[in-house]
Amino acid sequence: MSQANDKKLWSGRFSESTAELLDRFNSSLNFDKRLYKHDIKGSIAHAEMLAHSAIIGKEESEEIIRGLNKIFEEIEGDDEWFERNKNEDIHSAIEARLINLIGDVGKKLHTGRSRNDQVATDIKLFLKDEINELIRLIGELRYTFIYLAKTHYATVMPGYTHLQQAMPITLGHYFMSYEQKLLRDIERFEQTLHRMDVLPLGSGALAGTGFDIDREFTAKVLGFKKITENSLDAVSDRDFLAECLFNISLLNIHLSQFSEEMIIWNTEEFKFITISDAYSTGSSMMPQKKNPDIPELIRGKTGRLTGNLMAILTILKGLPQAYNKDLQEDKEILFDSLDNIKIVLLIANEFLQNIDFNRKKMYEVASNGFLNATDVADYLTKKGVPFRIAHEVVGNIVAYCIERKRLFTDLSISEWNSFHKLFGDDIMDKIKIESCVEAKNVYGGTAPNQVLSAIARAEEKNF
Ligand code: ARG
Repeated sequence: MSQANDKKLWSGRFSESTAELLDRFNSSLNFDKRLYKHDIKGSIAHAEMLAHSAIIGKEESEEIIRGLNKIFEEIEGDDEWFERNKNEDIHSAIEARLINLIGDVGKKLHTGRSRNDQVATDIKLFLKDEINELIRLIGELRYTFIYLAKTHYATVMPGYTHLQQAMPITLGHYFMSYEQKLLRDIERFEQTLHRMDVLPLGSGALAGTGFDIDREFTAKVLGFKKITENSLDAVSDRDFLAECLFNISLLNIHLSQFSEEMIIWNTEEFKFITISDAYSTGSSMMPQKKNPDIPELIRGKTGRLTGNLMAILTILKGLPQAYNKDLQEDKEILFDSLDNIKIVLLIANEFLQNIDFNRKKMYEVASNGFLNATDVADYLTKKGVPFRIAHEVVGNIVAYCIERKRLFTDLSISEWNSFHKLFGDDIMDKIKIESCVEAKNVYGGTAPNQVLSAIARAEEKNF
């Protein structure tokens, strides 16, 4: 069985066959073969619609559909189906094979259709499935963050701004910060799905079609909510693809930020985490090394993924209406971004489940600095001292302590009072690291009970 067919679908007006180098340059079959399932699905719906609209006969339509289903089975059962195929793209390959299989009836399939509205439809069908899978994978990772937040809702750790010790926080609160980022990522994909749920098929090459087709019928069969409003826009629109590449880039940037933290926390200097051996790598030269390659690679993927986003934006820039072959360049970058983000989501999830969080070390670091300085200022402020004055007083105490290599907890009450008379014995309790964390009891704050409420709210949203 061979589908090789050197004759182009459009060979009629040509007197010479195309140059070999043109074929090589022009062909997209090598990558758009990934659309075969969706291309066949779109063609079946189109054939049904053609019969429904009495443009072709019912038997003809059924024969075409049988042929298309046969091709689907052929492709599914034959790893080399595409290897032997010489057609220029997935649309031509399937149409040529159809004609080859069922003869002249197959030549009726392309009635009232162009590859331009066909390819836009294929990508949308394909991408809908892919985005749903991405939402599922992000949902799983998000759940792991929630699970870890439950375990560590009261685990105290140092919080940073500018990567400088700032205030104590709970590790659970930290995990829930990523839950929020991932939730927005999911929402962004859902919104993209919603916006792209419009069927381009029926727009023809650019102007629509002279056949009395029923576009609503096709939309229903293919599961699209609406049909496109303008044929010129429909065949040139790749906004949804650019949006998807943006969503993927931003999602990976979130995971890259998390990765950066894991890399830092994993250092000998920090020692906040231990990554299990199964998720670490070694060095070919330095026997002692245990490297965090997973988060480094996730961080590194940002280059490729944001690069793909720049690529689609650049492809679209300056394109005149309507279809231009430039658009064929949209697919490899899309596939590349999807493949990479999927494995990133899978490995990020496993990686996260194989980290040991060193509570003791986190607690020590949180306690052995001046992360409670703001709480001291708050203490005075609550006793009526204007915050700006309290801030200055505590700044002076910090300087006093640094000079003497002491912590707030080492100061006597008379030393406290030498800075402000309103300090009482209860200051010692207020500067305990647990007290500082519990005090941040505002909605969205780091106090353990706020983290528990955040977890409860998060668990109401399932994906
Ligand atoms: N392989 C083409 C693409 O991916 C399909 C559309 C071709 N249309 C055309 N008029 N040449 O964009």
